[in-house]
Amino acid sequence: MDAVEQLDVVLRPSRTVGGWSSPRGVDTSCLPWRLWDKAKRLAWDPATIDLGADAEHWAALPLAYQDAMLHVCTGFLVGEEAVTLDIVPLALAVADEGRLEEAMYLTSFAFEEAKHLEFFRRWLTAVGADLDGYYERLAAQAADLGLHYDPAQSVGMWESALPSSMRRVLVDRSPAAMLDASVTYNQFVEGCLAISGYTLWADLFALLDAFPGMQQGIRHIRADEGRHITYGTYLCQRILAEHPDLLEGATARLRELAAFWFEVSPTIDDPNDPVSTQLSQDFTRRVHDQVERRIAVLGRATTMTVADLERTGAAEAAERELLGID
Ligand SMILES: [Fe+2]
Ligand SMILES: [Fe+2]
Repeated sequence: MDAVEQLDVVLRPSRTVGGWSSPRGVDTSCLPWRLWDKAKRLAWDPATIDLGADAEHWAALPLAYQDAMLHVCTGFLVGEEAVTLDIVPLALAVADEGRLEEAMYLTSFAFEEAKHLEFFRRWLTAVGADLDGYYERLAAQAADLGLHYDPAQSVGMWESALPSSMRRVLVDRSPAAMLDASVTYNQFVEGCLAISGYTLWADLFALLDAFPGMQQGIRHIRADEGRHITYGTYLCQRILAEHPDLLEGATARLRELAAFWFEVSPTIDDPNDPVSTQLSQDFTRRVHDQVERRIAVLGRATTMTVADLERTGAAEAAERELLGID
């Protein structure tokens, strides 16, 4: 596809005066509508979560544990910022395919990612976290371990891999491009990184028995993410049911993303920092486990038709199995 053809995809919407969907009704029986409905019912506001006790717990927490909390919290904060900024191309591509209910659901999806960013940022401000000091200690730890931290580096999951696979669908609406965007965003970033990240939070809460505000926020965020991932599984399954030949590429992509993540964000192995080392190693194991479980779920879609997927509620069933969500 040359540059003129690419521009044509973006600049010329395929709409007609008689082609609007909503006058003919909306499909309230489809999965995206159910997710949209649930998003409205379960809406929450990060600004109403009381963080007073969290600030007291923070002030009494030893520095090593503060740093373990900041490691997880800043990881989520940056990830939420990235997914907030990068969901728009997928929403546009889905809208251009005339999938009204999916486009509607993706507006709540984008709203929720922005709320997640807001929640982590509010928490850091409420507890008075010194991020400058934390980043200085992190840079010193990286240097001790022989790692190089360069703030100007533009290669990373959030800096290059995610935005480039999402932006591709602005100009390439092929099934392979749509699948790659959803595999990267929903299956890997949300389904593997974020889901493994929630177990880190659970480990921290079990260890510290503290931070009720953060615990409440994580419960809301995890529920929101369950819907995001379910939508992503629905989208990937639909594409794979119609194009089973794309499974091999999707499988390779998931494993490649995991390898890339641990190349740019190596597992901590520092005898002077046993708390972060343990958490980091557990996280690594869980991410690899999620990758293989997600590959198995995607593989099953290649033996089904789109009608079978809809009729059996395959995406919801898969996520109930993987995530234990309703
Ligand atoms: Fe999120
Ligand atoms: Fe999400």
